[in-house]
Order: sequence, then C-alpha cells, then structure tokens
Amino acid sequence: MKLIIAANWKMHKTAAETVSFCNSLKLREKEFSGVEVLLCPPYTALSAAAAALKGSAIKLGAQNMSWETEGAYTGEIAAPMLKEFGVTHVILGHSERRHIFGEADNVIRKKLEQALRFGLIPILCVGETGEQRSGGDTAAVLESQLRAALEGLDRESIAELIIAYEPVWAIGTGQAASPTDAADAASLVRSAAEKLLGGAMEGALRVQYGGSVNAGNIDGFVTLPPVNGALVGGASLAVDTFADLIKAAGEAAEC
Ligand code: 13P
Repeated sequence: MKLIIAANWKMHKTAAETVSFCNSLKLREKEFSGVEVLLCPPYTALSAAAAALKGSAIKLGAQNMSWETEGAYTGEIAAPMLKEFGVTHVILGHSERRHIFGEADNVIRKKLEQALRFGLIPILCVGETGEQRSGGDTAAVLESQLRAALEGLDRESIAELIIAYEPVWAIGTGQAASPTDAADAASLVRSAAEKLLGGAMEGALRVQYGGSVNAGNIDGFVTLPPVNGALVGGASLAVDTFADLIKAAGEAAEC
C-alpha cells in the first residue's frame, strides 16, 4: 500500500512563506519515491500553495471544514470553497479541534459526511489522552471515536479514507509512541473501521501514525505493515527536515 506522508502546519506560515516552502520542496520531489505527499497549510495559504504546486504530484489538504455548504456561519469555510483551490483532502477531528475548540464526536461525524458528499478524502484523527492511556482505556477510546464517526455510513460512499492515529500525549511533546504501540493501535483502528463499515477496505483505507514523527524515527513506523504513513506537525515546518522525513519513509518502505 502506498505510504502517505501529510504535513499539518496548524497555525503556521503566511502565503509568502508557503510559496517559498513549496518551491523548495518541489526541488527535492524526485527523491520521494513510493510516497504520496500532502501539504495542509492554513486556509489563507491554500490559493498560493495551489499555484506554487502546479506541475508537481504534491497534493493539497485543508486542516478543517464546515459541515454546511453555505449560509450564515461566520468564520467558517465550506467544502466547495476548498475544492476551488484543488484541495483533495481534509483533516477532521484533530485533537486540537476536539480539545481546544470543543469539537464533539457528532460534529466530526457531520463534517465527515460533508467531506464524502463533496468528494474530499477525509483524514479522520483519533487518539487517546495520556490519562486515558494510563487508565488502560486506549482501545475503548479509539473504538468509541471511530463508532461515532463511521457507524452506519454507506461503504459505497467512501472511495478513500485515511484515519490518523494520533495519541494526544505524543503530539508536540517529542515523545512519540513506540513503533509497536503505533502498529498495534493502527491494527485496532483498521479492524474497528472495517467492522463498522461492513467489510475489508484494502487500499481504500490507510492508517497513519501522528505524534512527534521526524526524519530520525519515521522508519520505525512505516516498516510495520499496519502503519501506512504519517501525519506530521513540527517536523513538517522546515522544508529540509520534511523532505528528509519523506525520503527516509520511502527508503524504509522499500527495504
Ligand atoms: P507533531 O508532529 O508536532 O507532534 O504534531 C502531530 C500532529 O498533531 C499532526 O497532526
């Protein structure tokens, strides 16, 4: 299964900084064999990123999206607005949306349905907090987040789905999950998702690991078959660090 390495820039980079990053990343693109690459800049940089990425295979994603198509929703961004810029993917239910902005499971479900309706590939984020992990609740938390997001969805409506396992305690802490813990969680995520959706998903479902991934540890994750790529925060902000990470992922997967 082809790996997908995605950059989640969160609230970083102006449009000008994005253009400069994209131009430099394109110069290293020939080094990225066997890896699909996705950039998720802030909304305000999507247009500039789309123009800068023309002629490249690097794809563009958004970090969030409204569940509505248009209307009186001050400050929100709708799926057709994203599609206008050539956005193909959208991150939904990131732990920062859940925990800082109070996004509940039912909101994430509505956003997921909207993404599928508009042909955007969702990157659904799930993950347990440190407290839930020490309480032995990881599996229950993942299953409950997946059930809320996926139960009863029409399998036929899902051409492609990405689920990112991002343990909250590993995000931005420098303390990544161990590769075997990430692989165990990724297996659980895949089997729970397939059960909820009523059958094997094969290549239509890819499971990423996210949380303190960098060029030095990516190989440990992507050489374990349940993990099909990574969602990268901090290590995606500097172009050389990110390009080194993508290259290392491709090389590790080839071995
Ligand atoms: P870090 O890679 O900075 O830990 O962030 C992970 C993340 O939240 C990606 O969505």
